[in-house]
Amino acid sequence: MTPKTPSESRTTMTDMVLPSETNALQNLFGGELLARMDRAASIAAGRHSRRITVTASVNHVAFNLAVPLGSVVTVEAAVSRAYTTSMEVYLDVWIEDRYNGKRTKANEAIYTFVAVDETGKPTEVPPLQPETDLEKERYAGALRRKQLSLVLAGKMKPNEATELKALFMQG
Ligand SMILES: CC(C)(COP(=O)(O)OP(=O)(O)OC[C@H]1O[C@@H](n2cnc3c(N)ncnc32)[C@H](O)[C@@H]1OP(=O)(O)O)[C@@H](O)C(=O)NCCC(=O)NCCS
Repeated sequence: MTPKTPSESRTTMTDMVLPSETNALQNLFGGELLARMDRAASIAAGRHSRRITVTASVNHVAFNLAVPLGSVVTVEAAVSRAYTTSMEVYLDVWIEDRYNGKRTKANEAIYTFVAVDETGKPTEVPPLQPETDLEKERYAGALRRKQLSLVLAGKMKPNEATELKALFMQG
């Protein structure tokens, strides 16, 4: 299969925070942000694979900054590495200042999607060819994240997670 670049899957979704989507502090409810990220990531994985995709796991979420009611929120998703049937999707979440338009990074997350056929059976996806320094950095770190996710899910033995082990062996 011909490799694809992250820009071919890049998906940008901008929306605002409404009262029904907030917690008791009038900030965006975490589950609402997870859903927005899942939708953007699903579109990105679909653009990369041109297949039906399902969320296999949410590998990492960092709610670094609260997102207040009324904020304009942008979720950016792109495939950061592709394997045989699975894809890691990296998400960046930005808040836009109402008055000067300046964007502040609020959150980031990493999801894993699997491409499936009409019966739900995993099916092959194209490889990913990173281009920019950031894309290359995310690509390089993806294998150990996949191994960690598989170990935590009980689908890989810790002693088989070679990339992950190497990380802990570094001085
Ligand atoms: C995701 C799903 C298709 C995986 O099926 P499976 O029988 O485990 O298939 P496999 O073992 O062949 O794994 C398929 C790929 O997913 C990867 N994978 C499976 N579980 C994973 C996990 N927890 N973390 C990271 N990758 C995972 C495997 O490594 C494999 O990747 P590769 O082919 O690129 O190497 C299946 O579990 C499923 O349909 N789950 C429900 C998905 C869903 O409904 N999501 C929405 C939840 S509301």
